[in-house]
Amino acid sequence: MSGTRALLEVQDLQIDIVSAKHRHNVVENVSFTIDHGETFGLVGESGCGKSITALAMIGLLRSPLVISSGSIRFRDRELRGLPERELRKLRGNRIAMIFQEPMTALNPVSPVGRQIAEMFVLHQGATWHEAERKAVEALASVQVPAPEQRVKSYPHEMSGGMRQRIMIAIALACKPDLLIADEPTTALDVTVQAEILKLMKELCSARGTAVLMISHDLGVIAKMCRNVGIMYAGHLVEQRPVEAIFRSPSHPYTNGLLNSLPRLGSRGIHGRKRLQEITGVVPSISAFPAGCRFQPRCERASALCATTQPDQADLGDEGYVRCFHHG
Ligand SMILES: Nc1ncnc2c1ncn2[C@@H]1O[C@H](COP(=O)(O)OP(=O)(O)O)[C@@H](O)[C@H]1O
Ligand SMILES: [Mg+2]
Repeated sequence: MSGTRALLEVQDLQIDIVSAKHRHNVVENVSFTIDHGETFGLVGESGCGKSITALAMIGLLRSPLVISSGSIRFRDRELRGLPERELRKLRGNRIAMIFQEPMTALNPVSPVGRQIAEMFVLHQGATWHEAERKAVEALASVQVPAPEQRVKSYPHEMSGGMRQRIMIAIALACKPDLLIADEPTTALDVTVQAEILKLMKELCSARGTAVLMISHDLGVIAKMCRNVGIMYAGHLVEQRPVEAIFRSPSHPYTNGLLNSLPRLGSRGIHGRKRLQEITGVVPSISAFPAGCRFQPRCERASALCATTQPDQADLGDEGYVRCFHHG
């Protein structure tokens, strides 16, 4: 492990949807780095391009989506254009991924212990006998009760929270350097959500696993991450340490996301305080406005915003914002 170089370096990533007649931009100019053991959050409303950014990083984008430019360096190796065979060696092994709905990722006709064991056989050359013993340990590590019995269960015999624990066990089985978690708790009840986040945080921090956490919920990101990138309509509009975002949000979109969060103490004797929603919706990719993409929804917008894309402005706390009227 080289202490100085980042684990993951995404540089000027551009993703387009390409058909015979059209080319629509989906993600543009996205750059971020994740250091060894760092937790980085990507946040933005649904449809902002978070998932396809994650898929692009591990070579899972499929037509009509294409990476038009940029680079994705993982441990000093360019992943863009790497043959599928090489990518497959990385996925599940050096880079693991957890999705919102574990049922789509789990095999419904295979006992969960077998699915965890498979990781040890596939990526570490373990024998099935060895791998099944390690699967019991892996289940215990994600705090599944009675792991010796539970390995024999099928996914449909488990609750959503338990299934997500299985996904975490599978993801972390080979001690990856990076875990990408795309809305891992969005489908769960609030209490289960908190338990799963706590578990992920403890396991990753104990093992030094870096995390790219993706969520539409800034509250979830705040619990997990040190640094955060705010994504709007395919652009990273602000990137800062998480506490700086909460202390002094700079981009009007970040401000809007914060104001729509339920806060501690906001529920007084008069019941729940009304949360302020950001008015309007994320534009569809065929209708991105010129200039700043947030401008049609922005209270601070001026004539300049409608014609010109703002450059990155440094904020002096390792962060930046892209807005003419920030602060
Ligand atoms: N396979 C696809 N074909 C066409 N458009 C897509 C495809 N996948 C995603 N998109 C579009 O790309 C944009 C970003 O999607 P996504 O990354 O899933 O957003 P997020 O994860 O932030 O909710 C959306 O407008 C979505 O409709
Ligand atoms: Mg998504």
